[in-house]
Amino acid sequence: MPTLNDIRSTFLNFFEKNDHQIVDSSPLVPRNDPTLMFTNSGMVQFKNLFTGVEHRDYSRAATSQKCVRAGGKHNDLDNVGYTARHHTFFEMLGNFSFGDYFKEQAIPYAWDLLTKDFGIDKSKLLVTVYHTDDEAADIWKKYAGLPEERIIRIATDDNFWSMGATGPCGPCTEIFYDHGPEIWGGPPGSPEEDGDRFIEIWNLVFMQNERFEDGTQRDLDMQSIDTGMGLERIGALLQGKHDNYDTDLLRALIEASANITDGAPDGPGNVHHRVIADHLRSTSFLIADGVMPSNEGRGYVLRRIMRRAMRHAHQLGAGDPVMHRLVPSLVAQMGQAYPELGRAQALIEETLKLEETRFRQTLDRGLRLLDDELDKLASDAPLPGETAFKLYDTFGFPLDLTQDALREKGRSVDVAGFDAAMSEQKAKARAAWSGSGEAADATIWYDIAEDKGTTDFLGYDTERAEGQITALVRDAQRIEAASQGEEVQIVLNQTPFYAESGGQVGDTGVLRTEGGAARITDTRKVAGVFLHVAEVTEGRIAAGEAAQLEVDHARRAAIRANHSATHLLHEALREALGDHVAQRGSLNAPDRLRFDFSHAKALSAEELERVEADVNGFIRQNAAVDTRIMTPDDARALGAQALFGEKYGDEVRVVSMGKLDGSGKGSDGRTYSIELCGGTHVRQTGDIGVFVVTGDQASSAGVRRIEALTGEAARQYLSAQAHRVDALAAELKARPDDVVTRVKALMDERKQLANEVAQLRRELAMAGGAGQGDGPEVREIGGVPFLAQVLRGVSGKDLPAIIDEHKARMGSGAVLLIADADGKAAVAAGVTQDLTGRVSAVDLVRAAVPVLGGKGGGGRPDMAQGGGPDAGNAEAAIKAAEQILEG
Ligand code: ALA
Repeated sequence: MPTLNDIRSTFLNFFEKNDHQIVDSSPLVPRNDPTLMFTNSGMVQFKNLFTGVEHRDYSRAATSQKCVRAGGKHNDLDNVGYTARHHTFFEMLGNFSFGDYFKEQAIPYAWDLLTKDFGIDKSKLLVTVYHTDDEAADIWKKYAGLPEERIIRIATDDNFWSMGATGPCGPCTEIFYDHGPEIWGGPPGSPEEDGDRFIEIWNLVFMQNERFEDGTQRDLDMQSIDTGMGLERIGALLQGKHDNYDTDLLRALIEASANITDGAPDGPGNVHHRVIADHLRSTSFLIADGVMPSNEGRGYVLRRIMRRAMRHAHQLGAGDPVMHRLVPSLVAQMGQAYPELGRAQALIEETLKLEETRFRQTLDRGLRLLDDELDKLASDAPLPGETAFKLYDTFGFPLDLTQDALREKGRSVDVAGFDAAMSEQKAKARAAWSGSGEAADATIWYDIAEDKGTTDFLGYDTERAEGQITALVRDAQRIEAASQGEEVQIVLNQTPFYAESGGQVGDTGVLRTEGGAARITDTRKVAGVFLHVAEVTEGRIAAGEAAQLEVDHARRAAIRANHSATHLLHEALREALGDHVAQRGSLNAPDRLRFDFSHAKALSAEELERVEADVNGFIRQNAAVDTRIMTPDDARALGAQALFGEKYGDEVRVVSMGKLDGSGKGSDGRTYSIELCGGTHVRQTGDIGVFVVTGDQASSAGVRRIEALTGEAARQYLSAQAHRVDALAAELKARPDDVVTRVKALMDERKQLANEVAQLRRELAMAGGAGQGDGPEVREIGGVPFLAQVLRGVSGKDLPAIIDEHKARMGSGAVLLIADADGKAAVAAGVTQDLTGRVSAVDLVRAAVPVLGGKGGGGRPDMAQGGGPDAGNAEAAIKAAEQILEG
């Protein structure tokens, strides 16, 4: 009996042999389709190949695609566990032709695989075709030899497949298996078609049209093939089972669930085990693809599925969290076909355990409240909406969980009442917000959040994605469209653009729609709504349109490197300076990083050197950067550094990097840096390249600021520094290594020369001064021996020393010297001690200064100084001083 893993391989091998490229399953969160909550069929990743927008180097492909149908248009959640063929998670096997083969080849492939490779009895198979599709009917007749009565023509949309309201579409042919008359049911198109006798196993779509929003349709340029066969269904058939949950893979999970809860797999708890097996698959695959439980969007769908499963585990009497203990069984079953499952195993287990531990705290009390409320009601009365809302709001029961719990008792919920209670709560939250004094122009973003929902951020995993424009805003007003040259803020339902927060700047890039393009110059967020600040560069863009989004890759890569380096820097500073170091602010821009932290004094050269060396050491280690989600308390217990001034919700993102040998920090002593952080980071520390500190200064009291560069910016900085040293060495005619010693020697030499020059000038002045005629002459004025002289090429600060020498030589007298330096005058006067009672040096200077065009002047009676701008008046200034002596 082939296992599901065998069947998957047989399918892929068959098409590989027939020249198909085997393509990996795309992630469950579609990168290229904003209208889909989750990938729900194999063709999603190829959507743009059918319409001709995208081309690849193959025209035939085959996949085994992970699909989730729980939320959005296709939602099978409510039926899971209770029916034979509903799943939230399933695998779709498909083969695809992009303008290569068409019906004439697709039908034979399907027929051969089913009847030859899978060995299905031909007489059990029948098909449907679209009522006008004679061509397909003919091929079935000729190639498969099916008689007319087993080719059923269907005129409804059942045989015209479309991806959604818009997009590629076409007629299809479906292959059915007849389980025999002992099971009730009729062939497709008959009144009994909903019975279980005839089961659809494979759908072959002849993609040849494209549908548009206005309802019109065009013929596609090329004719293509898209097929889908549920692995679980074909598995059940080939394993002789009627119920998908009896196939080997799902049965193994059901048995694992039974083992852990001590329940018999087929006992009264059977429905619970089925739900657990199914939900284990969808939750684990969603987590592996980056979805995290939250209260919004995709994250909330995940949370709903997780909590439903947890209630079923609780119904089985499980005392402790169980879901995470089932993950190894799932990895054993599916890890080989989907390696991402094994890679994310720890994350899946932790996320499930955390959610279940927390939900258990309210689950019991919520279920008791539910029972008490039901007891008060008439046996057929629905549960009041208000009670369902209380369970939602206070006990964390998603509405569908309450409905699921009631289904077992044959009861229902007043959904309208629940919706009314929800609206009332939103109105209250809004009133509280509008009274909180936030800027009035923020109102529009809260309106958009309420009306269109918040924005899903895809940018941790991808820099390119498709989003739907939910609103356009200009001057705080919503507008319908914007044309070339206009500036506008664009809101999307999902985006790879990071919105500025936590010090990391917003992303830039481009947005393209069918009819236009815009340059995104910044991204910000308000109330969970991401606004892309944009200028329309081409055509026109309008609300409601799908848009291709592409982040400026080089810029984002540089920002990421700077952000990760900041984390390493933070830890390196703590190691070098002590645990008082805490982040006080940061900037992670594309061209630089800045980190402010609490520390009172400047870092020594050794400290800076150590920090820089440590950071570069962890960069070279090139270890993977790890990201996990947990409660703030668990994160702190792990030793995570929380960011200053940041508000944390129920769950936080924890970014860890750097591996230690077991002696370091972190709960395991093996992780260097652990921080709560919502930013984007490098995958491996080696992606940072190199780290260099360019500045260390005080930012404010008790806060230092380090500026640094990474990657190419750091290389350019270091290279420029090296070039400067080379240029310097060339000037000095020294080797670069000797530049510092050489400059030091030059500085010493210069100091010595300056001293010699000063000494020579003094000597020159004493000898009469260069070009001043014969030595200075002493005249007797007012009974005082007076020496006055104008000196060129002597600086003002040398004058007192020269005056002292004159005074010593004269023994008794007064001296006035005026130094003429490029037309500006410095004046100094000296009086020997014996004469200071008769004449003051200060008076002599003050008489001379105004004549030199200056003001003031001062000092002591024996030595005073001043100056002025007009050295040309020096002789007149001397005369003015002489008048003082003359009395
Ligand atoms: N895309 C087709 C389906 O999902 C094959 O049924």
